[in-house]
Amino acid sequence: MDRFAIYVTQHKPIVIMSKSAIPAPVLSELQRQLNHELTAAHAYQALSLWCAARTLKGFAAFFAKQAGEEREHAEKIMDHLLDRGVQPELAALPQPAQAFASLLAVAQQARTMEQANTRGINAVFEAALAAKDYPAQVLMHWFINEQVEEEAWCAELIDRVESSTCAGSLSDLDRHIVKLLAGDEKD
Ligand code: FEO
Repeated sequence: MDRFAIYVTQHKPIVIMSKSAIPAPVLSELQRQLNHELTAAHAYQALSLWCAARTLKGFAAFFAKQAGEEREHAEKIMDHLLDRGVQPELAALPQPAQAFASLLAVAQQARTMEQANTRGINAVFEAALAAKDYPAQVLMHWFINEQVEEEAWCAELIDRVESSTCAGSLSDLDRHIVKLLAGDEKD
């Protein structure tokens, strides 16, 4: 998109954005990552729906909460871009995985997604380091810390699901999963 585009209203032209100082490789990575966060939100909503359809209400609530957090992560990057004079660009979201053989497969999918997200965050940070873009580096510090938490709850989730070997223990886990993982994911 032309960031210097002038949109003409009925009465007078409005300059939408001023010139951005974000280095091009960093801008490209930030745009990619914000869309990755939205993709993660979409994918967590799909995990939530899989659980809801099987009356796993606790897991459904947990993944719905994660979907909301991923949207907040995208908004953090959008706010950063807007503050630096760039209108964020939204991409089409890919269809998320929706068919799983088991709750364990769902938990493993969450871990796969978070590991991919960590690689995406690292790529933004590396671009910001190379370009000496200090504001983007500081923004990514928050995300790097967040990914440590995200991968921690994924590991715990998988352990807990693997340990729930009977219907009773799975039902108990479903009832308590939001609270059990609350210590690992604070944001
Ligand atoms: Fe946006 Fe799951 O980290």
